[in-house]
Amino acid sequence: MGLKNMYGLRIIGTGRALPSRVLTNDDMTQYVETSDEWITSRTGIRQRYFCGENENTTTLAIEAAKKALEKAGIDKGEISCVLVATSSGEYAMPSTACMVHKALELDENITVMDVGAACAGFLYAVETARALMIANGGRYALVIGAEQMSHVLDMADRNTCVLFGDGAGAAVLMLEEDAEYVSVTGTRGDMAIMVGGPRREQPMAMEGQNVFRFAVSTIPMCVEKLLEKGGVTLEDVDWVVCHQANQRILDASVRRLGVPAEKFYKNLDRYANTSAASIPLALDEMMESGKLVSGQRIIMCGFGGGLTWAGVMMRA
Ligand code: UT7
Repeated sequence: MGLKNMYGLRIIGTGRALPSRVLTNDDMTQYVETSDEWITSRTGIRQRYFCGENENTTTLAIEAAKKALEKAGIDKGEISCVLVATSSGEYAMPSTACMVHKALELDENITVMDVGAACAGFLYAVETARALMIANGGRYALVIGAEQMSHVLDMADRNTCVLFGDGAGAAVLMLEEDAEYVSVTGTRGDMAIMVGGPRREQPMAMEGQNVFRFAVSTIPMCVEKLLEKGGVTLEDVDWVVCHQANQRILDASVRRLGVPAEKFYKNLDRYANTSAASIPLALDEMMESGKLVSGQRIIMCGFGGGLTWAGVMMRA
């Protein structure tokens, strides 16, 4: 199988939203016994954003979506589906996607739903959006990753609370005949080593070291599968945009793949792990700063609770 798919996707607009509160590593010492030195050296994280009053997964999703739609420059009536990847929505119903649908006053006759695949959720949603458009004849999809991780954390658990942050990223994707696109998705349902409810009543717990081991083997495996499917090498790829969980996970993946570290985009120092939001957040930053230019070939790779993993190779 080559990269030219009968129907692939292009990114035609992105947006991001961050809440108002910035917490440095030093600020985290008010919750748990920790230090800037420990967090920085073990993870690369220096700060994270947490929602303040009147900010939550929904408000972030809506803000990111509005910006992405504006940049895409299309009529919102052309959106054929809205998918929100999240593990931290306010309600089981209505879905976060339904609240985005309401806020943006979108058409009634479209598919609107949340996608639950933890930190791999954005790429699961991209894959689902493509399938929906092929099945139903749509041309544009609004795909969002939005998280209020501060809502699902146990702020007394230093193993998790220092690692995550809140934020959202959104992308308007266009289905295009003969556009480059290959994808892989995978699941290890036998490895429920990150567990948590959507609200604080069942806060997240995680076997950190086991997730770490999973991540450093999964990223190279995922990248290699995509390259093989697409019939290209890493030299043909402009950017690798991985889920932003830990600097040491990215470094280990770079070493295993033997690629220049500059090819791996990094922003986890500023945002920490924003779960399903991390990849679209990175995409928007890269587009805005001119690092990612339309036409460049990118690999995106996500991994997380479930355990789940997913990868997509396409052109921006
Ligand atoms: O989206 C996917 C989400 N999950 C991940 O990506 C997590 C992957 N895992 C990791 O990133 C790393 O395993 C962690 C950052 C979670 C932990 O790093 P580590 O190097 O594996 O540390 P560790 O679990 O081996 O802990 C070392 C020590 C322990 O103390 P003892 O038992 O050696 O005395 C911990 O209690 O560090 C202690 N520790 C802390 N100390 C200060 C754990 N958390 C903290 C903390 N501050 N926040």
